[in-house]
Amino acid sequence: MEALALERKEEQKRELKERIAQLKKERNAIILAHYYQRDEIQEIADFRGDSFLLAQKAASTDAEVIVFCGVHFMGESAKILAPNKTVLIPDERAGCPMADMVNVDGLRALKKQHPNAKVVAYINTSADVKSETDICCTSANAVKVINAIDSDEIIWVPDKNLGDYVSKHTDKKVIIWEGYCNTHDMLTVKDVEEMRAQYPNAQFVVHPECRPEVVKLGDFVGSTTAIIKYCKESDCQEFIVGTEDGTGYQLRLDSPNKQFHFATKYLVCPNMKVNNLKKVARCLETMQPQIYVPPHVADQARASLERMLQVK
Ligand code: 13P
Ligand code: SF4
Repeated sequence: MEALALERKEEQKRELKERIAQLKKERNAIILAHYYQRDEIQEIADFRGDSFLLAQKAASTDAEVIVFCGVHFMGESAKILAPNKTVLIPDERAGCPMADMVNVDGLRALKKQHPNAKVVAYINTSADVKSETDICCTSANAVKVINAIDSDEIIWVPDKNLGDYVSKHTDKKVIIWEGYCNTHDMLTVKDVEEMRAQYPNAQFVVHPECRPEVVKLGDFVGSTTAIIKYCKESDCQEFIVGTEDGTGYQLRLDSPNKQFHFATKYLVCPNMKVNNLKKVARCLETMQPQIYVPPHVADQARASLERMLQVK
C-alpha cells in the first residue's frame, strides 16, 4: 500500500514537472531558486544560487518572466533590477523575519543620530528600506562592500551577527542594527561541540548569519556559495554544516562521495520551504502573485543594489 502511494506521488511530481516545463516555454519564463528551497524546486530551476548570484542573474536574464523561488525580498530585488520583467513568486507568504526587523522610520531615526555615516543594507531588507540606503550587500560580498565605501562610519542593517563578522574585518566604525536570522541564530556552541564529538574527522563550515561565538568555531566561514565551493574543493571528506539545510542539495550534487552532517535539525528556514512544485505551476498558469514595487521606491533602491553589483 505504502509503495503504491509513493509511486502515485512520484507520478504526480513528474506530471507537475512536465506541466511547468511546458508553461515555462509558453511564458518565456526562467525559474531562479535559492539554495534553501526544497529539493523538488532546486531540481527544476534554470539557475540555483545564493542571494548575490540570483540578483546578478535577475539583472541579466533575457526571459520575460522570472519565477523567483526564494523569499519576498529576493523577488523584490529581482523586480527592482529588472523593472520591465514580470516577477512571480509561488507563495506571497514567503517572507524573511530578519528583513522585517528593520523599517524605514527606525532607520531614519538612526541616520539622524549618525549624520556622517553611510548606510549599508544587507540584501535581506524590504525595497522601502533599501531606498533609504547607500549600498546593498549580501553575505558573499559584505566585507568587500564595507571596505570599498568612502566613509569611516557605517550604519549596518539589519543582521547583528553578520554585522559583528564584518566589523571584525574592517577598521571602520560599524553601528549595528539588532536584527538576526531566526534560523541561523538558533545554532549554539553546544550543538557544534556535540557534532564535533560525534564526527571528529569533519570540518565545521559556517555561515556568518550564525552567532559570533559559533562563527568563531568555524574551520571555514562564508556565504552559502562560498561554503559550497569550499566543500567541493577541499581535500576533507566530511563536513558539519552550519547553514540552512536546503544547501545539502547542491553540496551532495557537487560532492556525491563526501559526507555532510547538518549541525542541528533546526537549521530549516520555514519561509523558504513554503514554495513547492504545485505553487510554481499555479503561478505560471495564473501569472499571480506578481511582485510590485512602486517606481519611486524602486528607483532609489535600484541605485543601492547597482552600486553593490559594481563592487569588484
Ligand atoms: P546568502 O544567500 O547570501 O548566503 O544568505 C543566506 C540567507 O539567509 C538568505 O536568506
Ligand atoms: Fe530570512 Fe534566515 Fe530564512 Fe534567510 S534563512 S530567509 S535570513 S529567516
